[in-house]
Amino acid sequence: MIDVRPTGAALGAEVSGLDLARDLDDATVDAVRAAWHEHLVVLFRDQRLEAPRLAAFSRRFGELDVVPTWRDVHPPGAPEVLIISNVEEGDRRVGVLGSGEAEWHSDMSYLEAPPTASVLNAVEVPDAGGETSFLNMYKALGELPVDLRSEIAGREINHPSSYDSTGGLRPGAEPVGDVSRAPGTRHPIVRTHPETGRQALYLGRRSNAWIVDLPLDESEALLDALWAHACNEIYVWEHSWRPGDVLMWDNRCTMHRRAAFDASARRLMHRTQIRGGRPA
Ligand code: OGA
Ligand code: MN
Repeated sequence: MIDVRPTGAALGAEVSGLDLARDLDDATVDAVRAAWHEHLVVLFRDQRLEAPRLAAFSRRFGELDVVPTWRDVHPPGAPEVLIISNVEEGDRRVGVLGSGEAEWHSDMSYLEAPPTASVLNAVEVPDAGGETSFLNMYKALGELPVDLRSEIAGREINHPSSYDSTGGLRPGAEPVGDVSRAPGTRHPIVRTHPETGRQALYLGRRSNAWIVDLPLDESEALLDALWAHACNEIYVWEHSWRPGDVLMWDNRCTMHRRAAFDASARRLMHRTQIRGGRPA
């Protein structure tokens, strides 16, 4: 069976003993799911996975979303796999997100039903930079000072859709002026994970967020206080990538960010996302 080794940080565990390119039996999938629910992010190393096999593995945990894109950023034969990369071939950018920092976020929280999980497979990575860090949002909520906890009771955040996590304006989107009017979706700040039953803080991302029905200055002050509390290294695990790594994270109880890296280095990742439901 599988071996599960916790990172020793606030979240994350390495799962070994599996070749993800092979079909996994139900008991193995159940064991991986249990480790994932316990540790929030699971890491598999030294995998050799063609993009369609990454999709096949991911599909064992739920239906996949085909991420809408405005240009072709999929490996051949794998429409559910998105290429995350700064690599350019001639004048063609083969993937999305470039080489800059990606701010703390939970994937696609501006959707009514954001993805449950994202699975990222490193194909090519730079020698340094481009690390991905994760935050345990169960812990961040569990240790939230009581005054902040009462201030967010019953409240929602508007999760704006205009920008991606590297600050790029999404195709067709208008720059945001007044955050209380930004297009997006409202979700509860405290959500209950439908599978573990545990409550987590659900912040989405800091940029252009607004706490619904609060005056702008109060919303900004409360968001600053929540973010200052959550973005504490005691809740963080940072992952340095090796080619062949596969990480599966839970967008319902974690956030992640990516460090910038040298734009002249190559970083190429394959990513799937598993369809989710409405946060509640
Ligand atoms: C993502 C993402 C971070 C990274 O794929 O959703 O945020 O390290 N990627 O590439
Ligand atoms: Mn992301």
